[in-house]
Amino acid sequence: MVWLRRTFDSTVGMKWLMGITGLFLTLFVFVHMLGNLQVYLGPDALNTYAETLQHLGELLWVARVGLFTIFVVHIVSAIRLSQLNRSARPQGYAVITPQVSRYASRTMLMGGLIVLGFVVYHLMHFTLGLVSPEQFHLQDAKGRHDVYAMVVIGFRQPLIAFSYILAMVPLMLHLQHGASSFFQSLGLNYPKYNNLFRAVGPVLSAIIFIGNCSIPLAILAGLVPYPVAGH
Ligand code: HEM
Repeated sequence: MVWLRRTFDSTVGMKWLMGITGLFLTLFVFVHMLGNLQVYLGPDALNTYAETLQHLGELLWVARVGLFTIFVVHIVSAIRLSQLNRSARPQGYAVITPQVSRYASRTMLMGGLIVLGFVVYHLMHFTLGLVSPEQFHLQDAKGRHDVYAMVVIGFRQPLIAFSYILAMVPLMLHLQHGASSFFQSLGLNYPKYNNLFRAVGPVLSAIIFIGNCSIPLAILAGLVPYPVAGH
């Protein structure tokens, strides 16, 4: 366990942990967005996708516990890293610390906490059905959990639709900076590819922002057909 102690006490170790866990979380957000975009293919496509995930059984729980652990490690390493950075800086050094990087890391911490707040709300909404229980228990014609109806009916409510769109802004900013600094954290510095590394964050976060926002916006605009009433 000496290596764990060393990792926990070193800035480089914490940056690695944050980078790797951030990569997995970004992959999850991207794949989740691709899954959700199936709302445009209609009720059968989205509900079949949701049912397939549910039928993974124990494997789904392994994935959930894995995702949760990665999320916790990401948050803990972010907090630990900011502690290490603060304790490594003697008073006078603060004056010459680039304001931009301090501003960025503070913004990352704040933005990350807002994203955490969104995830808690989102789980209460679509996974636990605590926000609108009546929409959560709908079933489609094949007797499956009607995820399509739950999403479409949910986002027909402007307040809910706009709260999701608003939450995508801090997520986008967080991914934008996080994805680009991932390469720095891992010490990947190749002059030939640095411009490419710098572009990954903005491009990926823009794709995720547009993909995710398109869903509540399209539903609000009436572009996604209203579901046939479930039972
Ligand atoms: C407009 C954007 C989004 C839509 C429409 C959406 C939709 C959904 C739906 C319908 C579920 C429940 C799936 C089911 O019960 O079968 C779900 C679960 C979930 N979503 Fe999202 N989501 C969105 C954005 C996000 C974002 C940005 C994150 C993370 C930052 C996220 C994280 C999760 C997690 C962790 C779950 C629980 C997965 C599980 O069942 O274990 N979602 N989402």
